[in-house]
This record gives sequence, structure tokens and C-alpha cells, in this order.
Amino acid sequence: MAPSPFPACALFKPLLLFSLLPTIATSSAIKFSHLPLFEYETHQLTDEFLSTLTPDIRALVAFGSASDSLPPKNTSACKVFPGDTNWPSPAVWTALNTTLNGALISTVPAASPCYTNWGNYNADTCAAVTKNFTNPYFHEDDPTSNMWPIYQGKTCLPTAASNTTCSLGGYPTYVVNVSQVSQIQIALNFARNTDIRLVIKNTGHCYLGKSLGAGALSIWTHNLKTISFLPDYRSDSGYTGAVFKVGAGVTVREIYKAAHDNNVTVTGGICESVGFAGGYVTGGGHTPMSTHYGMAADNVEALEVVTADGRFITASNSSNPDLFWALRGGGGSTFGIVTSVVVRAHPRIPVVTSTFQFSTTESGISNDDFWDIMKAWWKMFPVLGDKQTYSYFWIWPTEDAGFRFEMKPFWAPGYTLEKFYELLDPWFSLLKEKKVKFDPNPLYFDAFYPAYHVSWGNETVGRVTKIPGNRIFPRGNWESEEKFEVMFNAIRNTSLNGVVVGGYHQAPMNRLNQDNAVSSAFRHTVSFLIGGPTVSAEAGREEMREAAKVLDRDILGPWRKVAPESEFGGSYLNEANVAEPGWQESFYGVQYPRLLEIKRKWDPKEVFYATTAVGSEGWEVRDGDWGTKTQDGRLCRVGT
Ligand SMILES: Cc1cc2nc3c(=O)[nH]c(=O)nc-3n(C[C@H](O)[C@H](O)[C@H](O)COP(=O)(O)OP(=O)(O)OC[C@H]3O[C@@H](n4cnc5c(N)ncnc54)[C@H](O)[C@@H]3O)c2cc1C
Ligand SMILES: *[C@@H]1O[C@H](CO)[C@@H](O)[C@H](O)[C@H]1NC(C)=O
Ligand SMILES: *[C@@H]1O[C@H](CO)[C@@H](O)[C@H](O)[C@H]1NC(C)=O
Ligand SMILES: *[C@@H]1O[C@H](CO)[C@@H](O)[C@H](O)[C@H]1NC(C)=O
Ligand SMILES: *[C@@H]1O[C@H](CO)[C@@H](O)[C@H](O)[C@H]1NC(C)=O
Ligand SMILES: *[C@@H]1O[C@H](CO)[C@@H](O)[C@H](O)[C@H]1NC(C)=O
Ligand SMILES: *[C@@H]1O[C@H](CO)[C@@H](O)[C@H](O)[C@H]1NC(C)=O
Ligand SMILES: *[C@@H]1O[C@H](CO)[C@@H](O)[C@H](O)[C@H]1NC(C)=O
Ligand SMILES: *[C@@H]1O[C@H](CO)[C@@H](O)[C@H](O)[C@H]1NC(C)=O
Ligand SMILES: *[C@@H]1O[C@H](CO)[C@@H](O)[C@H](O)[C@H]1NC(C)=O
Repeated sequence: MAPSPFPACALFKPLLLFSLLPTIATSSAIKFSHLPLFEYETHQLTDEFLSTLTPDIRALVAFGSASDSLPPKNTSACKVFPGDTNWPSPAVWTALNTTLNGALISTVPAASPCYTNWGNYNADTCAAVTKNFTNPYFHEDDPTSNMWPIYQGKTCLPTAASNTTCSLGGYPTYVVNVSQVSQIQIALNFARNTDIRLVIKNTGHCYLGKSLGAGALSIWTHNLKTISFLPDYRSDSGYTGAVFKVGAGVTVREIYKAAHDNNVTVTGGICESVGFAGGYVTGGGHTPMSTHYGMAADNVEALEVVTADGRFITASNSSNPDLFWALRGGGGSTFGIVTSVVVRAHPRIPVVTSTFQFSTTESGISNDDFWDIMKAWWKMFPVLGDKQTYSYFWIWPTEDAGFRFEMKPFWAPGYTLEKFYELLDPWFSLLKEKKVKFDPNPLYFDAFYPAYHVSWGNETVGRVTKIPGNRIFPRGNWESEEKFEVMFNAIRNTSLNGVVVGGYHQAPMNRLNQDNAVSSAFRHTVSFLIGGPTVSAEAGREEMREAAKVLDRDILGPWRKVAPESEFGGSYLNEANVAEPGWQESFYGVQYPRLLEIKRKWDPKEVFYATTAVGSEGWEVRDGDWGTKTQDGRLCRVGT
């Protein structure tokens, strides 16, 4: 089996100044008396602490004020960048580091041991880094590394050419290795008060490079790993039942394990290394459990957040409800820095999972037969969604001008083997009639976790040869034969043009009946497709520009046409084409105007920026034209 073209899951020191930071008594800081803060959340920045600092240092790390809402001064056309006269002096960075208890790290690119210009050249380390560069956990453990080097600017890839130069590119300049909320507040205040770009990195999974940024101060949430289980929670939204409170650095794998250990189920993504409480949940988060519980964001009951003014607040139904609304689907790195989320936990549920594949070559069938089978498969999506199932599949053009279909897997929660066959037998009959060689081999598990484990493996990341995009297809396309045909022909044509198509049938709908910022496209969809052109590892500006054009015009163009925003088509902001035209409506659906209003209210000084995030249209990264949008450049206001 060839590897998936995208990083999908193949089945394939002492703290010297610690005592300076006061520990807030848990009771005084809690908005919900029944929901304790994590220990790391009890260490908060206070006005008392600020008053112990010298005035010049205090001015740099003090909280924001009402004057933040004044129109920005003309001097701030661009964020302050290394080399600028306003860039803080080494002494200031050292002072910042002191207030941070020594948690400030100066960026050393992960692959720098492969080069001589960083002074840390080591052939053995370089070999290990080279080997590890496709391993997501390697990038997660590094303070600044990112899994999509194209958006970093490819300035420090693992290489055997040690005499070439490794530069920072889109990596941030400094990073705060956060272990307390107070450090997030100090770093954020510092970035705002000095007008330096701020980025947030959790795992570095983002497809669009949103956890990168040249000349930035980065907040690294990776070590905020606490998880707690509360079996009897009463939320201010009206929900009563089990919840988890999950730290910002927890991965999907860690929360799945905790859920299993507590005999419950949570809504997470399909790749185990993806962060749970960062970009995933705030971006909406699609999940195999959407069949029962909608989007991951629909399951959020509260979040603890550091806002742009540096204050630490709770967002929930009764506390800052507008922020609560926006943080559930409105995207990461936009409204605040989440330190933990409270999510619903559901009863244990059995799952039937089925992984199989077939090809025109192995089965000796014609391409017409293959596409008849695909059409029958596609036609079932609304029913399959209504029957609470989900699938992840791939269609590969093969070398002998045929096609291969890979189901990996079909996912049926709450099903028995009998019910599984009952649902899919009509389609399987067609396969048998066409003499297709396949073996669905469905497996029954009495819980999510073991089913998850046989269905999805570890992903391959760190490659520079793909630029993907996606489209969300609305149910309305299935409502008339004519519309269906037009859509199906467009998708088949993508495949015929040699593009590998990854797909899902999934219908998150609004199963928990939530009012939040999850894109309206997700509420209407029954399927979601991923595709993208291949580029060479050495692709320069011209090749990248051409590939971006192919993605936009030849792959996503026809998909957009058959799934326009006006009919609730759209694109998933977390796995999208970084250059998606009209991304506001495409990524955020009908929610965009309200999201923008909330963004302006909570972040008047535009501390938070990420490409394609709400409110980012006023900014651009001047990266010298890479043919695609990288984070390797200065962040400036558009038109300045
Ligand atoms: C291999 C792979 C598989 C995937 N599978 C799925 C899937 O099944 N379902 C799905 O919905 N998505 C999936 N995704 C997409 C995933 O949801 C996004 O990449 C998401 O942004 C990852 O979030 P992160 O926090 O791990 O990554 P990061 O790259 O660290 O962060 C992503 C964005 O969130 C921001 N952010 C991170 N932490 C915080 C925080 N604490 N507060 C505020 N902002 C924050 C960052 O600044 C950045 O803008 C997958 C991605 C990959 C690469
Ligand atoms: C600031 O910039 C705006 C628009 O570029 C201009 O109209 C205005 O006069 C400038 N103000 C100052 C104080 O320079
Ligand atoms: C911050 O302080 C710690 C502890 O003294 C030190 O190890 C680290 O190198 C410092 N960071 C920077 C960027 O100087
Ligand atoms: C690869 O990365 C993982 C995760 O950081 C680490 O545990 C492992 O030691 C690394 N392997 C090598 C060979 O460096
Ligand atoms: C790097 O070294 C290789 C062989 O050692 C040589 O061929 C190449 O020209 C050198 N490149 C530069 C940029 O000096
Ligand atoms: C980050 O801080 C944690 C303590 O919270 C420490 O264990 C870890 O080694 C630090 N990581 C780096 C890369 O400095
Ligand atoms: C949640 O908030 C809404 C809007 O403020 C309010 O109408 C509703 O009563 C709240 N739910 C509960 C259970 O308090
Ligand atoms: C686990 O949850 C299931 C479903 O709610 C329940 O039937 C079972 O008794 C639970 N098992 C344990 C050990 O609590
Ligand atoms: C993924 O990799 C991790 C770390 O190497 C390993 O512990 C885990 O079991 C792997 N997961 C699967 C499903 O293979
Ligand atoms: C199929 O794709 C080709 C190549 O992009 C294009 O010329 C043709 O118009 C497309 N046909 C349909 C029916 O979409």
C-alpha cells in the first residue's frame, strides 16, 4: 500500500524565582466553585506582583488597559521585528526571562545540528533528526518545530549538505516554555506592550503554518498536560453529567486513554498526536464520534482563557458568553490563549470498524465498473449519516490507468456486526455482482479505544511535497438527481485528472443543539474531501506558485463550484488551502460577521494574528514571495 499523500493517519532547572510568583488560593480565583482550577492555573499574574517590579520592567509586562482600544498609532504599520530600533535589547530579554522564572528559550531550529552555521553540528544528531522528521512527536517535543516545513519557508530542513545555511525562517525568535498561567500572561503582555508578533504553538500540527511566525515571541503550551475527570458535573449551560477538564497541551491520544480508563467516550480527532484543546477544539474539530455528539466544539462546557489584555478569565454559558461562543469553532490563535477546556464525556459505546480495499487491477474490473461502485457509495452518504456512521477513505489513480479504493475505516458506533451488514449489504451486493475482490472483515469492539487503535495508526508529517486543500459538500447536493450528477462528475473528474482524493462521509449536523461558532457548512454536510497537488522537494517560487494555482483552479475550483457557500458548501479551516479565496465565508460560514465583531471587542490592539484567522485580513506576512503564503517574513498591516 502506498503511503497517503497527506499526513493522514495511515493504517497503516530549578525555577530560581519561583517564589516571586504568588500562588492564588484556589477558592478566590474560581468562577465555578465546583470546578477547581488546575494547579498551573492557580499561579496567576497579579497587580501585587507587578508592583514588586522596577517601573521600566513593569511597563513591559503590565496588563492592557482601555487605551488599547484607541486606533493604532501610525508607527505600528508592522509588528516590531528583530533588527528594528524598537526591538528589545538583550538586557530586556534577560529581564523578561527573569520574570518568567527562566522559561524563555532562544530558538534553535530542530534540524540545526545538520548545519555548521549554528555551532551545534553533529553528524549523529543530524542522522537522528533526519530519521525523526516524519514523526509528529519529534516536532511536538521541540519548542518551535512545525510539521509543515513549506510554511516555515524550508530554511532549515534536515540535510547532508552541512555547509549550506540554516536560518530561522518562519520560526519564532523566542519561545516561552509555559508551566504556569502567569507565564502566559507575562509573555502576552510583553508582546502587546512592545508590539512584537505573538504566536501560540501547541503541537505544531497546523496545515497552514498558524503556529509559526518570523520575529515572534511564541507561547508553547505543550507541557500543560493535566487531565481531570469529574463524573458528576453541573454546567451553567444546563448539562449535567461526566466531564473532563483537559490541559492545553494534552493530545488526542492522551484524552482517549483517560476516557477509556474512566469507561467513557470523548469526541476527538482521528490522529492520535493532534493536540486536543488547542487548534483542534477551537477550530470546531471533526471526529468519528460526530455520529452521536456533533463536532468536538459542541461538547465544550467551559474554557479557561488568557485574553489579549493579559487577564485570566472563564468563558462559559454564564461567564463571557460571547467569547464562549467564539472559542467553540471560531479558530485558534484569535480570541485568547486557552489554558484548559471542560468537555462532556459520554457513556462507553461499542463500535464496529471495517477496513478494506479493492482496485480495478486486482479485481479485473473496468474503470466504468469502478465508478459505478463509487457512485453507489456516494449516493448512500445522507442515509449513512442519518444512521450515525462515519468513514474515512481514499481513491488512488493507479499506475496502470485504473483506480484503487481504500476504506480506512468504515466506523459504526453503537452497531453490532449484524446491523453493520444490514446497512452495507446493498452496496456489498453490487461489489459482488461486479466481481470485486474485497473483504470488509468488520470487527466488533465493546468500546471506542480498542476500535480506534485498530483503525488509525501514527501519521507521517514533516514532508514538503504536498499542499492540500479541502471542501465540505452540503446535503442539498443529494436532494436532486441532477445536482448529485453534477457534483459526482466533478469529483470523478478530479480523480481522472490524476489527483489522489481523500474523503469522509460524516454528518456532524447539530446533534447536541448548540449555538456556537462552528461553521454552518459543518451543520449541513454529509461529506468532506481533501486533495492537493504534488510538488518536488526542491520546489522554489515558480513551482510553488504553479502548484498553488493547480490547487485553486483545477482541484478546489470545480469542488467549490458544485458546493458554493451560498448553498452551505465550505472548507474546513484547520485543514485548508492557505490561499483559499473568500476564506471568511468559506471557513466560517454565516458566523463570520459575528466572529469579527467579537474579535474586535476582545482584541482591539490585534495582539493575536494567524493566517486566515478571524480579523487577519488587515495583515500580511511579507515573505518576499514564495509562491505560497509562508510565515517567513515580517507581519505588517495591509496597505502600509
Ligand atoms: C495528521 C493530521 C490529522 C488531523 N486529523 C484531524 C481530525 O481528525 N479532525 C480534525 O478536526 N482535525 C484534524 N487535523 C487538523 C487539526 O485539527 C489542526 O491541525 C489543529 O490546528 C491542530 O491543533 P494543535 O493545537 O495540535 O496544533 P498547533 O499547530 O500547535 O496549533 C494550531 C492553531 O491553534 C492555535 N492554538 C494552539 N493552542 C492554542 C491555545 N491553547 N489557545 C489558542 N490557540 C491555540 C495555534 O496558534 C494555531 O493557530 C489533523 C491534522 C493533521 C496534521
Ligand atoms: C496616520 O496615517 C493616516 C493614514 O495613512 C493619515 O491619514 C494620518 O494623517 C496619519 N497620522 C499621523 C499622526 O501621522
Ligand atoms: C532564561 O533563563 C534560563 C535560566 O537561567 C536560562 O537557562 C535560559 O538560557 C535563559 N533564556 C535566554 C533566552 O536567555
Ligand atoms: C525521535 O523523537 C522522539 C520524540 O521526541 C524521541 O523520543 C526519540 O528519542 C527520537 N529518536 C531519535 C532517534 O532521535
Ligand atoms: C558544500 O560541500 C560540497 C562537498 O563537500 C561542495 O560540493 C559544495 O559546493 C559545497 N557548497 C557550498 C555552498 O559551499
Ligand atoms: C520546559 O519546561 C519543563 C518544566 O515545565 C521542563 O521539564 C522541560 O525540560 C522544558 N523544556 C525545554 C525544551 O526547555
Ligand atoms: C445559558 O445562557 C443563556 C443565554 O444567556 C440563558 O438563556 C440560559 O438560561 C443559560 N442556561 C442555563 C442553564 O442557565
Ligand atoms: C462502563 O460503562 C458501561 C456503559 O455505560 C456500563 O454498562 C458498565 O457497567 C461500565 N463498566 C464499569 C466497570 O463501570
Ligand atoms: C504511535 O507512536 C507512539 C510513539 O512512538 C506509540 O507509543 C503508539 O503506540 C503508536 N500508535 C499506534 C496506533 O501505532
Ligand atoms: C475535467 O477536467 C479537465 C481538466 O481539468 C477539464 O478540462 C474538464 O472541463 C473537466 N470536465 C468536467 C466535466 O468537469
